[in-house]
Parts: sequence; structure tokens; C-alpha cells
Amino acid sequence: MKNKKIVIHNEPDFNKARDRRKADTVFTDATLKISSLLRDYAKGKRYFIRTYGCQANVRDSETMMGILEEIGFVHSDDYNEADVIIINTCAVRENAEDKVFGEVGSLKSLKAKRPGLIVAVGGCMVQQGVIVDTLKDKYAQVDLIFGTHNIEYLPDYLNEIITTRKRIIDVISKPGEVIENLPSVRIDRYKAFVNIIYGCDKFCTYCIVPYTRGRERSRKKEEVIKECQQLVADGYQEITLLGQNVNAYGKDLTDGTDFAELLEAVAKLGIPRLRFTTSHPWDFSSKMIEVIGKYSNIMKAIHLPFQSGNANILRRMGRRYTPDSYRALVDEMKAKIPGVSFTTDIIVGFPNETYEEFCDTKKMVEYVEFDNAFTFIYSPRPGTPASKLEDNVSEEEKHRRFDELVDTVEKCATLKAEQMVGKIYPILVDSVSKRNDEVMSGYTENNKLVNFPGTVDLIGKIVNVRILESKVYSLRGELVSE
Ligand code: SAH
Ligand code: SF4
Ligand code: F3S
Repeated sequence: MKNKKIVIHNEPDFNKARDRRKADTVFTDATLKISSLLRDYAKGKRYFIRTYGCQANVRDSETMMGILEEIGFVHSDDYNEADVIIINTCAVRENAEDKVFGEVGSLKSLKAKRPGLIVAVGGCMVQQGVIVDTLKDKYAQVDLIFGTHNIEYLPDYLNEIITTRKRIIDVISKPGEVIENLPSVRIDRYKAFVNIIYGCDKFCTYCIVPYTRGRERSRKKEEVIKECQQLVADGYQEITLLGQNVNAYGKDLTDGTDFAELLEAVAKLGIPRLRFTTSHPWDFSSKMIEVIGKYSNIMKAIHLPFQSGNANILRRMGRRYTPDSYRALVDEMKAKIPGVSFTTDIIVGFPNETYEEFCDTKKMVEYVEFDNAFTFIYSPRPGTPASKLEDNVSEEEKHRRFDELVDTVEKCATLKAEQMVGKIYPILVDSVSKRNDEVMSGYTENNKLVNFPGTVDLIGKIVNVRILESKVYSLRGELVSE
């Protein structure tokens, strides 16, 4: 493959990304510039998007899909037949990045076979200078590198690529913008993600997200309401309010709106199921707990990452709460929200974590009785404060602790799932089972997957199902007539 010229509009810079000096958020309306040349080019052409990472990336991919379809490209599930391929990447742990390099590497032969193919890499990974350099120098098959804050310019980049045939890099690092009215495609017909706040200001010492996603910017309440109203009108059954810290919502707004108020306003719109993720324990207020308890359509399933059950480790992680204050928060919710359940994120093997400190994490799992937990081995992220720490814990030991923790989590999850057997729960029916077209699948309020005999006309409806058997991560049930 002959080396094409590279045009660099902007390159990422962690120093700019780290800057949190107060600046007002700029609210703008998207104005996509789609040339007739690009529209003609897109006729009969297909796009494929691969999404790694969290719901923020899923929602960004939906926006990219909306933009590509507005240009005239058609969606494809198969990248072998696609004319534009976008890899939307995640940087949160090293193994997420390894997968992306593997996939981008494999696109080299496809590109050799089909030189007209446009390969783009976006998302959190390319907010890092070292990654951009590697892709630029070693992955000539990549035509476009664009950042998490550059999505609205996709038509401009594609236009530039088809007219100049050059490679393009554009990654901005210091955004203070909230952009409204970008087109988007919703991947799911009955469940929708709605962004309420972008970015993160917490700077937990291990985490790269504040650098890849910029500072906290809340959308205006009326914009969120408008989007949710439309979803209700379109027959959606479930809305999940999204943000790295949903409960920090409004802190940057000047009108005094906070998350409790927004949550209540959305609940009142009458969406059958309302969820939100992720909540930070430090930002959870009693007012929020009250609202969650008050509305039956707010799902009593709280995702509340605690990361570590040890005070010393939490302090070194910069998490701003202690195991005691976390337990007090959980106790308050258990007291005020009948039937509340919890899931969480946990990191094992933070630098210099002792075995005793790790045991506090297991104790927390047992104390809260989580329905489920996402467990991760600490992965040093270049540029974060924790990555500069020396670490006396071996990889073998971290893996050993990880297995021990997974055991504890599984015991808890099994117990919680078994308690559900014999009881009746409302299920939002999602899909037909892949293995048997007479079996339907759906989720309970606390996000347990339930399979039960049923018919396809139930998809998108909330039905009552009696749980007959627990299989830890899924349940088997039978339909109960009203
Ligand atoms: N904003 C959310 C989620 C952030 S990323 C929150 O604060 O909870 C999702 C999870 O990835 C985190 O909760 C944490 O458990 C994990 N994570 C983040 N950085 C990590 C790292 N460097 N190594 C291992 N796990 C990490
Ligand atoms: Fe990362 Fe902490 Fe922000 Fe979550 S709160 S995104 S873990 S810095
Ligand atoms: Fe990954 Fe970026 Fe989300 S780093 S977890 S995709 S915010």
C-alpha cells in the first residue's frame, strides 16, 4: 500500500484535556455540511460501525449512524461488503485497546483488496497522542482518525478524503460544547439511551475518561425533556439517562437544576421504565433517593460503583468517599426504596494493594448483596496519576485475587437470583431466543435476563412472568395471564 499524505487538523493533547478552568459551556445546534459530491458518492454505498466500550460510545455510534444515513450511506452488518468502516474505540483498559489494534490490523488485507474502502478510527482511544502516532505510522490502512468531540464533522472529513485521497487526523482535546440536534439512529426499537451530561470532572487517579471525554457539560433540561417526550410518543418502553456521573447533572448549569429534578420531570412523562447510569456515590443526595422511591416507573436497580472496600485504597484512587459513607448511602437507599437492588464496578490490584485491603472489597460485596458486579483487574493508563506509581503486587497475585472476588460475586448473585424463584416479575420482552423461536427473552426491573415460552407479538411489551428456575446470570420462567 503506497503511503498517502496526511493532513493533521488537530492532534490530542492531555495537558489541554486536563484543564478544568471555569469556562461557560457553549450550546450549539448542529449544522451538517453535506456536499452534493458526497451525497452522489454515498449512493448505493454501505457503512459498518464496530462499537467498543460503554453506553456513551453506543450512543455516539448511533449519532455516527444518523450522520452517515443522512449523507446517503446504508447500514451493513458485514464489514467485508462495507465501503466505510468506523471503529469506535474505548481506552478504559489496555485489553480494550489491544482488541482494537487487532481489528484495525486485520483491515489491512481488506483494504488491499478494496482500495476504495474508507477506514476510520474514532472514540476514546484516539484522544491519546501515542495512539494517534501509532495508527499514523504503523497502520496506513486508516484513512481517518477523529475524536470524541469531532463527530459532527464526519461529512467534512469524508468529503476531504474523497476529493483529496489524503489521510486525515482531527482530534480536539478541550471541548466546552453541548451540540444539539445531530441526527441519530436508535439501535433498539424499545429501549433508548438519552445523554444528560457529557464528560467527567472526578479524575479518579486510575481513570482515563476525564481526559478522553473532557469536562462535565450538562444538556439543558428542556432539551432532555424534548428528546424523552419524543421517545414516549414513538412507543419506547425504556429510557436510560446517560452520563459518566449522571448525578452530577446540573452542577455546571446556571439555572439551579439538579439530577433529582430532571429525573422527576422525565418520570412524569410516563415512560414505562426509567433507568440512569452511572451514579457516583459522592454525588448521591437524599433528594435523589426520595424521587427514586416516589415513582414506580423509576427502576429500583441502582448501578453504584464502589471500586474498593478499603478506605486507604479509596483515598489513593481519589474516590471522595469512604467504605463507611458508601455503606451508609446503601443503607439509606435500602430503608427508603423498597425492593431496591444494586450492581457495581470493582477494581482489583490497584498499585500496592495488600491482601487485607483486598479482603475489605470482598466484605463490601457481602454487605451490600449485589445482584451483579463488573470486576476488573487494574490496568495502568498512560498519563493518569496512578500509572506513575510503583507497584509491588505481581500480575499472578492480581489474577488470584480477581478469581477470588469473582467467586464471592457469583455466590451473591446466585443467592439473589434464587430468591426470585417462585415469584412473579414484570419483564420487558426484548427478543426471540437464538436457540428456540418459541422462547422469548426479556429483562426484569433488576436487569436479570429471563427466558420463557411465548410468541413474537410480545416483543416490546411488559408482561408478568413467574420465575421457575435460576441459572445465576439468566432465569427461566412462564407467562402469567393478567
Ligand atoms: N463513570 C463511571 C464508569 C467509568 S469506566 C464511574 O465512575 O463509575 C467503568 C469502570 O471501569 C469503572 O467503574 C472502573 O471500575 C473501571 N476502570 C476504570 N479505569 C480503570 C483502570 N485503569 N483499570 C481497571 N479498571 C478501570
Ligand atoms: Fe473515571 Fe472516576 Fe470519572 Fe468514573 S468518576 S469516569 S471512574 S474519573
Ligand atoms: Fe471506554 Fe470512553 Fe466509555 S474510555 S468506557 S468508551 S467513556
